[in-house]
Amino acid sequence: DKFPYPHFMAKEIHEQPETIARAINQFLDMTTGALRPLPSLDFDFTTLPRITAAACGSAYYAGATAKYWFENYAALPFDIDIASEFRYRHPRLTEGGLALMISQSGETADSLAALRHCAANGQHIASVVNVEESTMARESATIFPLLCGAEIGVASTKAFTSQLAVLLCLALKAAQARGTLEPEMLHKRIAALMLLPAALSEALKAEPQLKQVARRLAYFHDVLYLGRGPFYPLALEGALKLKEISYIHAEGYAAGELKHGPIALVEKGTPVIVLAPTDELFDKTLSNLKEVTARGAHVILITDPPGAEIAGGDAAEIIVMPQVDPAIAPIVSAIPLQLLAYHTAVERKLDVDRPRNLAKSVTVE
Ligand code: F6R
Repeated sequence: DKFPYPHFMAKEIHEQPETIARAINQFLDMTTGALRPLPSLDFDFTTLPRITAAACGSAYYAGATAKYWFENYAALPFDIDIASEFRYRHPRLTEGGLALMISQSGETADSLAALRHCAANGQHIASVVNVEESTMARESATIFPLLCGAEIGVASTKAFTSQLAVLLCLALKAAQARGTLEPEMLHKRIAALMLLPAALSEALKAEPQLKQVARRLAYFHDVLYLGRGPFYPLALEGALKLKEISYIHAEGYAAGELKHGPIALVEKGTPVIVLAPTDELFDKTLSNLKEVTARGAHVILITDPPGAEIAGGDAAEIIVMPQVDPAIAPIVSAIPLQLLAYHTAVERKLDVDRPRNLAKSVTVE
């Protein structure tokens, strides 16, 4: 039941402070901050040579974000492919490696085919999956459930953020096992995770402002999303969310790629959504923001309070997110992207929960 929300998507967006707490609590005692032991695994993070991940759509973007966490925090090589591309490129799998599948439904045909390819080639198989009775869950030696409850809206929202949260927890467990993060840094990241549900509640408060922004966005034909580092896959996710439910053409780009082509699209009034909280890449993204502003773009900047202060006059609109540890900032930034897509589709009077041509789970190739 979606009551009191007009759509399941709205309900699922607003559930995220609770669903994320449930996902994290599997790995972390949310009151004491102690990392819990993992269930028995058929692999060992300390000696694992490589993780090979494959997924589709939003689940792929969750994996693409997790690559930054596993490589930065756990010094663990992490490959990620779109599942439909994976097995046809004859990937060279590392002996003793872990194949990590990411899926809400656990029934996505290409993701299952990738899983089977890895299993046939001797990889350990684990999946980050919501539906625990799914084919993917059954065919995995280890499952890391999302625990976000049934997701009814076709566009993934709470499953996406739970995928991110589970993957971040796993990266921190791997970092702990491998001794690749200084204890203070590990504790900082754990403390940040404990604050994540509250940070998502805070982020949801931007809804009235995002609804206003969406009122204008609804009448454009092309929207660009830019981000760097882990905000690059988030930019891709924001663009996917907008196109699938509002049918507005949207493209996500790594901000550094702007000058290599996409800046040619920018003309007076072009909406450009820039994801840039204050991290070590902020200045670089800010200079990209100034480049598009100088060409007349209507920049909607999603940042934190210090970012808003610095970027001030260069963006047409600023959506201020809470200031959080860089580890969890990508998860927080998913909220305004979802709300923006949702309200844009509502403004266009579209069937938000059942967008045209899309199915909740894609069980054919
Ligand atoms: C986007 C969306 C899809 C799914 C993709 C994978 O909002 O919902 O892109 O993320 O079809 O589905 P699962 O996670 O069920 O494998």
